[in-house]
Amino acid sequence: MQTIDVNLPHDTYAIHIARGLLDRLGEITREATPHDRAMLVMDSNVAEPHGVIAARALESAGYAVVTRELVALESRKTLSTVQGMYEAMLAAKLDRTGPVIALGGGVVGDIAGFAAATYLRGVPVIQAPTTLLAMVDASVGGKTGVNFPLPADDAGRSELGKNLIGAFWQPRAVAIDPQVLVTLDQRGFRCGLAETVKHGVLADVSLLDFIAEHAAAIAALDMDVLEELIVRSVRIKAAIVEEDERETGRRALLNLGHTFAHVLEPIEALDLRHGEAVSIGMCAAAHCAVETNRMTSEEAGRLRGLLRRLGLPTGLPREVDAEALIDTMGYDKKVAGGKLRLILPRGLGAAEIVDDLDRSTLEAAWAAVEPGTSGGGG
Ligand SMILES: NC(=O)c1ccc[n+]([C@@H]2O[C@H](COP(=O)([O-])OP(=O)(O)OC[C@H]3O[C@@H](n4cnc5c(N)ncnc54)[C@H](O)[C@@H]3O)[C@@H](O)[C@H]2O)c1
Repeated sequence: MQTIDVNLPHDTYAIHIARGLLDRLGEITREATPHDRAMLVMDSNVAEPHGVIAARALESAGYAVVTRELVALESRKTLSTVQGMYEAMLAAKLDRTGPVIALGGGVVGDIAGFAAATYLRGVPVIQAPTTLLAMVDASVGGKTGVNFPLPADDAGRSELGKNLIGAFWQPRAVAIDPQVLVTLDQRGFRCGLAETVKHGVLADVSLLDFIAEHAAAIAALDMDVLEELIVRSVRIKAAIVEEDERETGRRALLNLGHTFAHVLEPIEALDLRHGEAVSIGMCAAAHCAVETNRMTSEEAGRLRGLLRRLGLPTGLPREVDAEALIDTMGYDKKVAGGKLRLILPRGLGAAEIVDDLDRSTLEAAWAAVEPGTSGGGG
């Protein structure tokens, strides 16, 4: 088992990574928070077989386990789902020290984490992520929350604003078992890979080398390679969180590619999942970096090549209205003082926050990922 400690000013917790770790979830939970009663919140899609293993492990460690299944849909990541959890927690007589264990992808981790952050002013949460994205990203760093409807627009429609209601609530421990990835669909798995590439681009070029060298083994779910990939990727996220727990500075670098991705994800016709949109977003950000002499076109090409090799898109599947997207990007929550802040790579292995990009650079970046261009169509 490999363990990475996250050392924060008021808190330290361990991230454990090992194949078969789910069998030891009870032990890990007990080390982090000894108590008799626990609530296991699981993604309904992993209730079998992973939920069964997790419940058994908790029971063997002496916990009376109350289980709750959640449907992992963005549309269900709402306050009413959290309310349902509060009701279940009260009915289960979960007190202040009773841990919540979140077994699932980022949707379940975010909901269960937020419920744990707010129930009785905060109960311990253990994150047991089951998607690659949740392993290397969502389960580490204490961001929890739900979506909330935006004010209705002129046509009376309102959409769910992503993660508008939330809290920073660090887990007491994170238990990562790469073995659970065998049941994840390939597209979901690749979405997690996009985040590992992101970590490499912004902090560690040798991680990109590792991914390129082991691309076939990663696709074949070679567990030793996956474990190493997760360890290396989590180390990067943990180090950034340690430096900037509340995202007042450097943590924003983790949004590389995301400002572009967030405006693509709601466009149904594009049918892009988050990691796919991030992949395209990173290519657009790389284009901005090349245009502003932060990156060479060879480096940007290397990034695109790696993403393609992993089966991720590097361009849009169909045309978009770039001007409208740029306007929408202006409303992204990473806008500071009215300026659009973007995260741009600086070569491969470093990144920076940029807030003085010309609109024409953004236009060129969108054009670079259009269908039919070198980035587009794939
Ligand atoms: N808190 C954070 O810091 C943070 C960071 C990144 C993303 N997020 C959030 O994470 C969410 C996305 O998370 P995600 O990509 O993990 O997706 P997800 O939680 O929506 O899961 C994707 C799908 O995979 C299924 N699934 C999960 N694990 C499985 C497994 N082992 N086998 C089979 N199916 C499985 C789920 O039921 C779901 O259908 C978004 O809501 C996003 O806002 C949070």
